[in-house]
Order: sequence, then structure tokens, then C-alpha cells
Amino acid sequence: MIKNIKGTKDLFPCDTFNIQDIERHLNGFMNIHGYSEIRTPIFESTELFSRSVGEQTDIVNKEMYTWIDQNKQSLTLRPEMTAPVVRAYIQKQLWKTEPISKFYYIGPSFRRERPQKGRLRQFHQFGIEAIGSSNPEQDAEIISMAYNIYKMFGIENLTIKINSLGSGDIRKKYGNDLKESLIKFKDQFNGIEINRLEKNPLRILDSKNKNIQKIVNENAPNIFDYISNEDNEHFNALTNILKELNIPYTHDQKLVRGLDYYTKTVFELISNNLGAQDALCGGGRYDNLVQELGGENIPAIGFAAGMERLILAMNLKNNDNINTDIYIINTEKQFIPKVMHLADQLRKELGVAVYIDSLRRSMKSQMRHANKMNAKFSIIFDIKTLKEDKIYIKNMDQNKQESILINDIISYFESE
Ligand code: HAM
Repeated sequence: MIKNIKGTKDLFPCDTFNIQDIERHLNGFMNIHGYSEIRTPIFESTELFSRSVGEQTDIVNKEMYTWIDQNKQSLTLRPEMTAPVVRAYIQKQLWKTEPISKFYYIGPSFRRERPQKGRLRQFHQFGIEAIGSSNPEQDAEIISMAYNIYKMFGIENLTIKINSLGSGDIRKKYGNDLKESLIKFKDQFNGIEINRLEKNPLRILDSKNKNIQKIVNENAPNIFDYISNEDNEHFNALTNILKELNIPYTHDQKLVRGLDYYTKTVFELISNNLGAQDALCGGGRYDNLVQELGGENIPAIGFAAGMERLILAMNLKNNDNINTDIYIINTEKQFIPKVMHLADQLRKELGVAVYIDSLRRSMKSQMRHANKMNAKFSIIFDIKTLKEDKIYIKNMDQNKQESILINDIISYFESE
């Protein structure tokens, strides 16, 4: 038997009903905040991610689905959507027509991580990117939107962690100092951690190893101590707005995030109910990325959220209610074309959901199925009444049945 690939999931109607509902809410939420949807391709040139997310990150180093195409070009299934959005923005030279672009997206991303609860190899992200403003109110808008989305979906027990990584070459300076402060504990690190310390020291701060966490807490310098006055002012202006908006946050001086493009503000929303994979969403400023990828010097900020983690946090029940308004019951082969025509007419003229059986089941089992589908009405084609051009209509809730002329069906439902 051919099975789905580890870390991927089939979504059946019991899942997609809930997802469609979430997407409807998200679309509405984004639109009232002035954000419009962007859809970029699912695969891109590999270089886009190695240059933006960063050569030394876990994502680029070991989690990308990459292959060489027939023309020898290296292609990659997108592991995230910020770089593709920025690539599209640059390609269209949008800064020439719009001083600010506000996008949102919903779609699949791919990372070859070790699958576990809340962690898949094909997962779905929704997110937003605001490209054009360097002002702290833009940061506050993004963080408050992230927070309000989870509130809209009824998620409690949220923690927002924020920090600033500063601008200029702070990351590099801090990385060197961090390495220096930790290198003396090298004998307590495993091979992977030593490699991290050498190549991308900031990643050490995310270590799940309790001993490393202790060493870090006791010895690592805080990146926030390195940032400039101007960056500090930006951070204070942001937190002032968050306070005014009643958005609770904690300043986590160890929060650095796992992608290389960040500058200044970074943040994560954590759920206290999710277990190990507790990051609901994460984001931050990436003021240099547009220029680094070949555009103008244009600041930007955004976040992305895992759809599967949102669904876990919502604790949704499977939604397998496949409902209909009208179920047409017929057991006579000769009436099938008429039944199909009537179903079409009802859908087109009244916009109602109409279900017809295509298994030629007995009257009794069609009636049972109509009940299972919570049909409000059933229309029964009966050979005897049809001789007088009549059919039965049964109000399923009231368990009442009457016969009417077949030509009066539309007006019957119009008056219901
Ligand atoms: P990220 O932190 O790598 O950031 O991913 C954002 C969110 O995607 C995570 O918080 C998590 O909810 C979800 N996620 C990531 N990997 C997986 C996985 N393997 N399985 C399930 N869910 C996952 C970014 O992707 C940045 N592009 C965010 C951003 C947007 N920064 C600025 N703009």
C-alpha cells in the first residue's frame, strides 16, 4: 500500500470544515486591518533561502527539500514565506508605486524536521508582512494583530516575548562575545552544539538542553546591552504602544529567533498548553533584507504562525457535519433525469443545498441518510403521486408531510 510521507497529513472534510472556517475569519481580520492576500509559488530558487534565512541556520543547513532541476538549477520547496514575499515585492518594484505594502498569506511550507506533536514536514503558515515603514507603530500593529488573532480564536494562556537585536553589526559583535563567554564550557557541549557555537553562536540560546540553558543563563551576555540609543528608543516607543493597547508582553533578553534576517524587534507568542512545540507564531523586523536581496533600502516587519499549532491550541472537535437543506428521495430509475433537473433548479434559484442519492438505495435508507445529513426537508418522488404531477414534501423537524404540484416546488420553498 502506498502511504503518505512521514510528517505530512491528509485533511479530510472533518478537518477542512474547521480550516475553512479559520481561514474565513483570518481573511476578514486581515481585510479590516488593511492587509491584502499575496500568493507566491511553493518552490523557489534555493539561493533565495540560503541568502535570506541564512547559510548557517538549521532550516537551510538540514531541513530544506532541495533538488536539481533538469536545467541544473537548484530549487527548494519554500521553508517559510517571508523571503518569497520579499522576492516578489522586489521583482515587481512595488516601492515605485506604493510607499507601503501590507500583505498576508496562508499556505503550506516544508521543513524536514523530526515530526512530533505540532511539528510536521509539510505544515501550514499564515502570516503578514508590512514592507515600507521603519516606525515603532508598525511593530506595534504587527504584534497586536498577532495577539488579537489568537484572542479572536479564543486562545487563553498566551505569553508574548519581545526583544531587540539592534541594528548595524550588533549581531556579529554579540555573536563573538557570546562565543567567547561560552567556549570555556566546551567540554560540556556535544558535537552539534560545538558546531553551532563556532558557526552560528546565537542558536545556542535556543538550546533545549537544561545544562546548556543553565550555562547560558549564568554566563551569556544580553544582546539588549549592545543596542544603540536609537534602537533603544524604538523599543521603548513600541512597548509604550503595547501598554496603551493592553497587550501583555515580557521582555526576554535571550530571544534571538532562528532565522538570520532579523534586525531590531523580534517576538514570539507562546501557548502554555502546547507542550514542547509551544511557539504559536514568531516574527520581527528585517530592515536589511529587501536591499540584501537586490531591492532598495526599505524596512519591513512581519510574523508567521503555524496553522496546525493554532488548531491544537483551539482544541477543536472534528467537524463532520455534512449538512443539506433538501434531500430528494427517489427510487424510480425513470425519474432520475427529472430529479437531477429539479436539484439544479433549487440550487440555482434558491441557493439552497440539495442532496441526491447516487447509489439507488431503498426509500428507507435514503430517509435514514436524509436524517443523518440533518436535512430540513425531503422531497419524495412517488410513482403514484407523480401520475397527478405531485410530489411529497416532508418537513423533517416537524415530521409533517404534504403533497404539492411539482410546478409549485420553487414557490413552496420561497414562502417557507
Ligand atoms: P518561524 O519561527 O520559523 O518564522 O515559523 C513561524 C511559525 O511557523 C512557528 O512559530 C510555528 O508555529 C510554525 N512552524 C514552523 N515550523 C513548523 C513545523 N515544522 N511544523 C509546524 N509548524 C511549524 C518564520 O517562518 C518567519 N518567516 C516569520 C516571519 C515573518 N518573520 C518575519 N515575517
